[in-house]
Amino acid sequence: MSELLNVALPKGRLGDKVYGLFEKAGYGCPDVLDPGRRLVFESPERGVRYFFVKPSDVAIYVERGAADVGVAGKDILLEYRPDVYELLDLGLGRCRMCVCGRPGHSDSGERSLRVATKFTRITRDYYASLGRSVDLIHLNGSIELAPILGLSDVIVDIVETGATLRENGLAVLTEILPISARFIANKPSCKFKYEAVTALTRRLSDCIEEKL
Ligand code: PRP
Repeated sequence: MSELLNVALPKGRLGDKVYGLFEKAGYGCPDVLDPGRRLVFESPERGVRYFFVKPSDVAIYVERGAADVGVAGKDILLEYRPDVYELLDLGLGRCRMCVCGRPGHSDSGERSLRVATKFTRITRDYYASLGRSVDLIHLNGSIELAPILGLSDVIVDIVETGATLRENGLAVLTEILPISARFIANKPSCKFKYEAVTALTRRLSDCIEEKL
């Protein structure tokens, strides 16, 4: 095989799990386990080149073709709507997109609801579907602080274990969407590297089914 398949994986906890799945699928690259400060890992025998990026950046690499394939959360795909193919639900990184706030908070519906979030598009779409007007407050992290300090009435955020909410005296008020990691592909790569993309997709799919 002359050309390697470029694979963008999310850094961090999810990336470790995702890499484990790729390894199980027969696409291991031993160097990944001893990373140091390296960002790119090649396995010519397996025909792949891995690189780890911020989870929210994976879709950008794939959309623009810097990566042929990658793994991104459904939250990112819904929020940024990159022009990529979504090939598989990997079933990893399961969590929920939720409206959260002080326990028992109820929306009186009188004025615009102040909602703090990183996910402005998902939030806007959700409240539009309810016909509820909102005052959207875009934050980049530590969203839970907003209702505590009175910056917002509620937040829309990802809940995985629920520990962050519990430790800050907040609760899930409504679940909006289930989220999980998706295997995505660059559109031209599906054509020009058809065999490599198909073989990897099939192996990952087999591994997911074996687990069920
Ligand atoms: C996410 C999310 C919550 C937390 C939920 O934040 O925004 O804060 O995880 O996880 P839990 O239900 O298991 O407690 P992340 O760790 O991605 O950091 P962030 O504050 O930068 O968004």
